[in-house]
Amino acid sequence: MSATDRLRSELAFHDAQARERAATFAREPGRLRFDDNAYLDHETWIRPALACLGDVRGLRVLDYGCGHGMAAVVLARRGARVIAFDLSHGYIAEARARAAANGVDVQTVQADGERLPFADGTFDRIWGNAVLHHLDLRRAGAELRRVLAPGGVAVFCEPWGENPVLNWVRCGLTYPDKDRTPDEQPLRRTHVRLLRQFFPRVEVRGFQLLSMARRVVRSRRVVAALDAFDAMLLERVPALQQFCRYAVLTLRRQ
Ligand SMILES: C[S@@+](CC[C@H](N)C(=O)[O-])C[C@H]1O[C@@H](n2cnc3c(N)ncnc32)[C@H](O)[C@@H]1O
Repeated sequence: MSATDRLRSELAFHDAQARERAATFAREPGRLRFDDNAYLDHETWIRPALACLGDVRGLRVLDYGCGHGMAAVVLARRGARVIAFDLSHGYIAEARARAAANGVDVQTVQADGERLPFADGTFDRIWGNAVLHHLDLRRAGAELRRVLAPGGVAVFCEPWGENPVLNWVRCGLTYPDKDRTPDEQPLRRTHVRLLRQFFPRVEVRGFQLLSMARRVVRSRRVVAALDAFDAMLLERVPALQQFCRYAVLTLRRQ
């Protein structure tokens, strides 16, 4: 697929998704309001990953591929000066409405993550969840390095693709909430090597090993037990991180 076709297909997919969501919010605007914990606890990696940004008070923070804009709102509530961008006009409209509904200031911009409309070194921190795996990492990596200020930190949470069984399930099975664009690719070690061309220090931490079963297991007690077991296993055998469902990547600009 050419770069233009990929962008067009991503845009159509996410705009269609945002249109459906907009219909719900038009009927029930109160659903745009949320408290921080609802976002921080919706996936196990979000809270620890956001903590890697440190204290963001007064910092210039970019929400990269912001989608619904919940992270942008949480960061603004923490005192950051937030700019949120997304390829999808529909999601940008939702992020703008969500910021207004929650009474925070977030600047929103429609843009392509591979060609950012920001000056060099504009941001102290960059946040992204489930976005880099939709992009050409060579282009996105160069742009990330360009717009991140020296000493800045970028944190991305991305589906991880080194578990062959999980890859087979992702491609071959249908399961609840499965919703993928045709071109997205979970990140792999080759992608991390590529990012290291722009950021020599890339840290990778895996999340959800056994507890990825939460996609089909609905018992909270079982999921909590699997989370606890994962924490113990990943601490004792870090090499198992490569088999996790998600990875949090921390990129530091020197
Ligand atoms: C799976 S969603 C994640 C959204 C949000 N970050 C979250 O935490 O839910 C992927 C997002 O990436 C956006 N996206 C895809 N390709 C993009 C690109 N080239 N530039 C900017 N955003 C892009 C989509 O429009 C969509 O909002």
